[in-house]
Amino acid sequence: MTTRTIDLRSDTVTQPTPAMRDAMFRATVGDDGSGEDPTVNELESRFAQLLGKESSIFVPSGVMANQIAVRILTQPGDVIVAGRQQHVVSFEMGAAARNSGVQFATVDDHRGILSTDEVCEFIDAELDHQPHIGLVTIENTHMPSGGTPWSADEVRDLASKIGPVRLHMDGARLFNAVVATGTSALQYAEPVDTVMCCLSKGLCAPVGSLLAGSNELMQRARVERKRLGGAMRQAGFLAAAGLVALETMIDRLAVDHANARLIADAVAAAFPSSVYDPSTCHTNIVAFTHPRAREIVAWLAENSILAGTVAPQRARLVTHADLSESDIARACEVISTWPSN
Ligand SMILES: Cc1ncc(COP(=O)(O)O)c(C=O)c1O
Repeated sequence: MTTRTIDLRSDTVTQPTPAMRDAMFRATVGDDGSGEDPTVNELESRFAQLLGKESSIFVPSGVMANQIAVRILTQPGDVIVAGRQQHVVSFEMGAAARNSGVQFATVDDHRGILSTDEVCEFIDAELDHQPHIGLVTIENTHMPSGGTPWSADEVRDLASKIGPVRLHMDGARLFNAVVATGTSALQYAEPVDTVMCCLSKGLCAPVGSLLAGSNELMQRARVERKRLGGAMRQAGFLAAAGLVALETMIDRLAVDHANARLIADAVAAAFPSSVYDPSTCHTNIVAFTHPRAREIVAWLAENSILAGTVAPQRARLVTHADLSESDIARACEVISTWPSN
């Protein structure tokens, strides 16, 4: 008998659910390039409503949503303050510099949450002949720190202290934060100018992300989407799956979080030299630092458990809807047999 491979590399490996496949098959579609796809329009207004924003726009990927936000909220030559491990800084191939002519000033984000004081120090330095800060971006949940959710107070505090500087939230996993903290998407979105969210991660849709903000910003976002080649045509087939994602896949993220906590406990016990604290695992990501991280990932793969690394010496395991209780139990059991720490 072949051993089933348990894929903990990312929540992006999830398959669309039967309800999504059915909705895609039946979707009513039109040319979204002319705003005539009713299913895309429904998804965009549903998301905007969930976030309490005037408008939202459906785009092919989370990277494109972040890049559009950067384009509409900055001018070439601006500086963006962000956490140094954030996706928009470290995982988008330098796209912000290439697409928007901006640079980053980075602050420590090993815990996921940015220090308001450190962010404000950069803004204050404008008075000392340093470049203009056009934008602050935060990541919620913050992936590399282990899926850390921001609290509503932390977001509000940062927004209130940065004054007129715009704030973008990379909420690729916004609903993981919502489920983990009990803060509504609306509460998270209220203090920020733009929020992006991926439908294709824990929510299991096959493709697509959304960016929400004011009507004025989203009108400009439509122009930038076109410039970046992201305007789609009968995209309602994808939006149909996105609607099912928003309707049926949010509450169940709690299961992913409980499963991640089981893996977090196994990791802490098996790799004491990682000094990993499992109580820091609040959502669906277990990320830990270990000098032999790549070796651990290779050893897990030999045992049919797929994991990944997000930085040198930093391993990551991610839970999602396509894992069963017995998958999680086996992953924990394998982890517990790591021959040395
Ligand atoms: C925090 C964060 N932001 C943005 C993205 C980009 O999303 P996509 O892969 O859909 O472009 C990811 C993807 O992994 C992510 O983890």
